[in-house]
Amino acid sequence: MRLATCFLLLASGCWAQGTSVVHTVHNLSAFGPGEVKVLGEKEVCKFCHVPHSATVSAPLWGRPVPQGQFRVPEVSAGRGKVPAPQPDGASRLCLSCHDGSVAQGFSPSAKTLKAFSAGGLREKGDLSGSHPVSIPLPESSVGPDEERDMGVKARAVIAADPTVRLDKDGKLQCTTCHDPHADPYYQPGVVPHFWVRPTVDEVCLACHELR
Ligand code: HEC
Ligand code: HEC
Ligand code: HEC
Ligand code: HEC
Repeated sequence: MRLATCFLLLASGCWAQGTSVVHTVHNLSAFGPGEVKVLGEKEVCKFCHVPHSATVSAPLWGRPVPQGQFRVPEVSAGRGKVPAPQPDGASRLCLSCHDGSVAQGFSPSAKTLKAFSAGGLREKGDLSGSHPVSIPLPESSVGPDEERDMGVKARAVIAADPTVRLDKDGKLQCTTCHDPHADPYYQPGVVPHFWVRPTVDEVCLACHELR
């Protein structure tokens, strides 16, 4: 319902100026600030949302959602490691554009979208060098091991921190680190686009303990 309300309120400024998607490279309309845009298109939201005929019900998704399997990084399980789950939820929505393939339909300036990083998407569908997404947080804290020096705090500690954005199922998603609608903190080479907090470290350190 909030989505519908927002579409109605959009003309009167659902988001405050300066934090709105309109001023970001996610505005793919003809008047967007980035390089990738669609000439002649005036609407901003419809690249990602449609009010009717959504491919998935929430949040009224307007794009074909990729169904394929992704290569994923490994995460701890007991004393060993297992592959992270396949991306789901909001992460799969992001990957409908950021899966490393050419941006379909964004002609005439169609180009390959920068693939998701934090390690780098090596090729289409390969998330193995990236931060794990769509994972439930560990119940108890995960200590450092021989390859990794960052401990992850226990789920209850992380969930109690109001600055940490988990999805409705308590999972870490792309949207834990990036807000696709607002880009107020971007600083080239310092803070990535669509970052949820003013600094990179405060996002990481909400979950990871440097020991
Ligand atoms: C580049 C893609 C993109 C664009 C453009 C975009 N959105 Fe979204 N929007 C998303 C994603 C992804 C989600 C899901 C976020 C999540 O589940 O955490 C979302 C969720 C939402 C929600 C639900 C928020 C919530 O907290 O559940 C609303 C409302 C919304 N969008 C409104 C808009 C409006 C209005 C516009 C146009 C001004 C817009 N969006 C443009 C990607 C986009
Ligand atoms: C409709 C297609 C679309 C969807 C869906 C989408 N994006 Fe984007 N995104 C773009 C385009 C186009 C750009 C600007 C061109 C570029 O940087 O390659 C961009 C840029 C970005 C950037 C900045 C890239 C850079 O150059 O540093 C980030 C970060 C990003 N998106 C994250 C996300 C996240 C996270 C989601 C999901 C919550 C998402 N995007 C959903 C199309 C999309
Ligand atoms: C743990 C936090 C985190 C998560 C989760 C995360 N990112 Fe990022 N992302 C970053 C950081 C940090 C950067 C800055 C570049 C870097 O350090 O590699 C970045 C950069 C990007 C870029 C810019 C291109 C580049 O390689 O620099 C895109 C696009 C992007 N992320 C999309 C995504 C998508 C899509 C997802 C979900 C599949 C996602 N991110 C999940 C932290 C995250
Ligand atoms: C919402 C909590 C959360 C946030 C925020 C977060 N992480 Fe993580 N991170 C995790 C979890 C959970 C794992 C998986 C740990 C495991 O292996 O079980 C992980 C794994 C990692 C790994 C190991 C990946 C691998 O493949 O070995 C690194 C490195 C890492 N995170 C760095 C970062 C950085 C850098 C940031 C900030 C840009 C960040 N994390 C933000 C929860 C988080």
